Amino acid sequence: MFEWKGMLAGWESTILFVLLLFLLIVLFAPGRRPPNFPPGLPMLPLLGSLLHMQGISLRGLLRKLKKEYGNMASFGVFGTGVVLVSKMSIIKEVYSHKASAGRPPMILGATRNYLLSDGKEGDLGLLGGTGPHWVELRRFLLRHLRDFGIGKTSCEPMIRAEVEELLEHIKNQNGQPIVMEHLFHRSVLNVLWGMVTGSRFKYGDKKLAKTLESFVKLADINLVSIIFFIPGVVKAMMYLPMLDRFVKPIGNICKFIREEIENYRSKKDWENIHSLLTLYLTEMKKYNGDHPIFNEHQLRAVMFEMFAAGMATTASTLTMGMYLVAKHPDVQQRVHQELDEVIGRERLPCYADLESLPYTRATIHEVQRVLNLIAFVVHCALEDCNFEGYDIPKGTVFLANMEDAMTDPKLWKNPDEFDPNNFLDDNGKYVKNGAFVPFGIGKRQCVGEALARMEVFVFLSSLFQKFTFTLVGEEVPPGNLYTFNAPVEFNAVAHVRPHL
Ligand code: HEM
Repeated sequence: MFEWKGMLAGWESTILFVLLLFLLIVLFAPGRRPPNFPPGLPMLPLLGSLLHMQGISLRGLLRKLKKEYGNMASFGVFGTGVVLVSKMSIIKEVYSHKASAGRPPMILGATRNYLLSDGKEGDLGLLGGTGPHWVELRRFLLRHLRDFGIGKTSCEPMIRAEVEELLEHIKNQNGQPIVMEHLFHRSVLNVLWGMVTGSRFKYGDKKLAKTLESFVKLADINLVSIIFFIPGVVKAMMYLPMLDRFVKPIGNICKFIREEIENYRSKKDWENIHSLLTLYLTEMKKYNGDHPIFNEHQLRAVMFEMFAAGMATTASTLTMGMYLVAKHPDVQQRVHQELDEVIGRERLPCYADLESLPYTRATIHEVQRVLNLIAFVVHCALEDCNFEGYDIPKGTVFLANMEDAMTDPKLWKNPDEFDPNNFLDDNGKYVKNGAFVPFGIGKRQCVGEALARMEVFVFLSSLFQKFTFTLVGEEVPPGNLYTFNAPVEFNAVAHVRPHL
């Protein structure tokens, strides 16, 4: 008689089991290339393209993908399809569509949410949020930030106060090299914190300095490393000592944010302070903290994002501005000449001077183009969609290839150099370039854009009016680059420009 039991005994049954499992994985596991998906690296079930991504940096991989597969190129990581979108006209088409306005789960946000909500995680904050809660939170923040004068002349005195203090600090270096580390962070944060909490940090504030250290450590970590695509990794990483260097700095920033909120709430008169925090706490009180937006965890996440997204971005831009202008004495001289002719050296420049300072304006935009702070803007598909004839399933991650767009010779006169002429016509008039989108495109465009534009212009034009910068010593290019760019590390001396 035919005996199944006998047939399947021993090593044969093991092999059969493995083959069956393999077949099931091949047939049903997610991660294979979906039909009519953009071309790209081979995608295996579960593993995606991992076997083809070994020994190459993320930047190297993305450059290779664009070169080999064109403007819509794909790869896969642990069941998630990723599409690299290049060429400005296609980036605009994809990113301004409502279907691409999602944000995939990202490790920084997930870890932060875990730590801020005592392990409950969930969909917190604006930067990583999606869906109706994100829409409501974004509306609330945009409305109130506008009320605080973001982008209007009413917020300029706050910027001016920080600029004046910074100019004095630099002057007091008396021609000694300026300590660049964190030079701009406190000033930039103070403008924002003035609106968020109605308070500011003094020079040398120890708690802030410690938190900034954590912040800088975070910048060295690959936030899109493939390891972070593994489901459940956030929980695991809390217990893995090797990931301590990632969790600890986020933990320190979370602690700082919690303490800021607690200190604020302990003030007797917090309800009378004109600040975003008072508005938020008042809404929370109205709902007794039981509201998807106005609750303790969301508040912490919003504060975290104001701190992180608002400070480092603007501070890096200012640092790079000082570096690039010092590095190009011809540009520095023309900026000086324009500022002297239009404003003189007495009163500080203000945002209303923007139109009458075309060369300075073009120089500052060129700083942002060359820095290209967020080189690959990450979104994800909220629904099945079709772009450029390809079918993109819901959940697919998009990477906007801003690196490619900012150096496209069809869009820029001199894409590979630092050259303000990229924003000037032959008569020296400022010309808008539609490809210059440092604050993103579409529904997720930066909520701090108006503030950042104003800050970058007022800070940099004031610095250039008052000082001539020269570089000293060695320059260190930024280390590992992932989806963000960082400024060069350098030392500079500021020479005071005498009164005319
Ligand atoms: C030079 C300075 C800045 C640059 C270059 C910059 C750039 C960007 C970019 C490219 C995005 C992503 C847009 C997208 O996903 O499509 C973004 C988002 C964001 N930015 Fe900024 N940003 C700057 C300053 C600020 C400031 C000062 C704040 C604080 C008010 C801020 C808060 C945010 C927030 C909360 C988001 C997330 C928006 C969302 O997902 O709905 N940023 N920023």
